Amino acid sequence: MNLLIKNGTVINAGGSSAADVAVDGGKIISVGPDIEPGVQTEVVDASGLLVLPGAVDVHTHFELDFGWAFRSADDFYNGTKAAACGGVTTVIDFVTPEKGESLIEALDKRKALADPKVCIDYSLHMGLSEVNDKILDEMGDVITHGVPDFKIFTTYAFRLTDDEFIRTLTRAKELNSLVMIHAEDHEELEAKRVRFISEGKTDAWYHYLSRPEEVEAKSVKNVIELAKKTGATIYIVHLACAEGLKAVEEAQRQGYPIYAETCPQYLHFTSDVYKRPDARNFVCSPPIKGQESQDALWAAVKQGDRYSVSFSRNETEYLSPCFTVATDHCPFNSSDKDYGKDDFTMIPNGVMGVENLYPYMLSKANEGQISFERAVELCSANPARIFKLSPRKGAIEAGADADIVIYDPGKNFTISQKNMHSTIDYTIWEGTKLKGYPIKTYTRGNLIYNNGEFTGKPGHGRFYPRS
Ligand code: URP
Ligand code: ZN
Ligand code: ZN
Repeated sequence: MNLLIKNGTVINAGGSSAADVAVDGGKIISVGPDIEPGVQTEVVDASGLLVLPGAVDVHTHFELDFGWAFRSADDFYNGTKAAACGGVTTVIDFVTPEKGESLIEALDKRKALADPKVCIDYSLHMGLSEVNDKILDEMGDVITHGVPDFKIFTTYAFRLTDDEFIRTLTRAKELNSLVMIHAEDHEELEAKRVRFISEGKTDAWYHYLSRPEEVEAKSVKNVIELAKKTGATIYIVHLACAEGLKAVEEAQRQGYPIYAETCPQYLHFTSDVYKRPDARNFVCSPPIKGQESQDALWAAVKQGDRYSVSFSRNETEYLSPCFTVATDHCPFNSSDKDYGKDDFTMIPNGVMGVENLYPYMLSKANEGQISFERAVELCSANPARIFKLSPRKGAIEAGADADIVIYDPGKNFTISQKNMHSTIDYTIWEGTKLKGYPIKTYTRGNLIYNNGEFTGKPGHGRFYPRS
């Protein structure tokens, strides 16, 4: 045994216990009381501390080319370094093939870019921006290459039509795959954008008003109907509105395999941020909504409803892990955000969060708003289960990868750009006070974050082929 974490409280989604955690060869080999170290074992005393599975952030955009002029600020090195320092031990990013490009070639290119830089394990989702017979055929090969899910959009230049949606969902159902969906009604938001700009309403507040609650809700309801029609398993990314959430919950209650994710920015801020002088920094799509939506999202985070949904793609039936919290980490530096200071439609979309996800949700647990088990379920166990990373990721148990976070519930922390680890020159989380903070992160048994310091290295992370 190389590592023994002693005297901590181990938190899993299903429960917690006072236990030691023994690690060897990058794996957890046992969890239980009074484990004795070997002669070569490094012993870490976790008295008074929590021992958690690393978070699994299934929605990041490192090195994403956005529009014609911008690239998201964190590359695979800085992004995964920041992730590690926030207790995230696995990320799933995206392949975004060009129109006409082979999906497998695009996947290989993305892996070649990421492999030398990643500090933690990673996987990829396959984005689709066009649908034709060749693409539908290639979807099968993508799955055999370890990428069993696809991402499609109802808006942006690379959106699909309803007909293309149905073809994709039908094929995904045939392949037992999952389709992630960015849902906002393109026609409605485009009409509003054009009108606001023509009326000279150009500041970031109009980003929100052009994509308000009903624009997202309409699209969420539409894609749920398409999913019901085709029987496909879908996962609505970055859900931000109350009415869309209601539609998801209704479909889940009816037994449809429909998952949803929200993000910390939708749980913490409201649309009022778009009235601030730094409003451009909060521009993301869908935009952050009003208080009613925030309250509804919190209710879903808290209640942890479990509906019995048949997850045929896993060939098992279990109580639904319907909901996750991930980040949609896609920050742009101030100079890029400034590009849209006179026209909100020119602001590159996206905010940061990969280093804030777990500390934020765990702080909410520490304050008593949710249980620590629920925080682990939302940020680690559920995403690992939905995206086929379990049983290696998402739990502290024998046989799992030793992706472990040690958390100090007594350490207070105030987020500032200065104590974050990515290269971005601001943070939307500036000044946010957290109760408790991760103090150590291990990936496959290697210490990569220690009390404020990044101790990992690029290239340590591995591509995780999922099936
Ligand atoms: O504003 C956002 N969310 N940017 C990243 C791309 C996306 O839509 O997820
Ligand atoms: Zn999106
Ligand atoms: Zn995204």
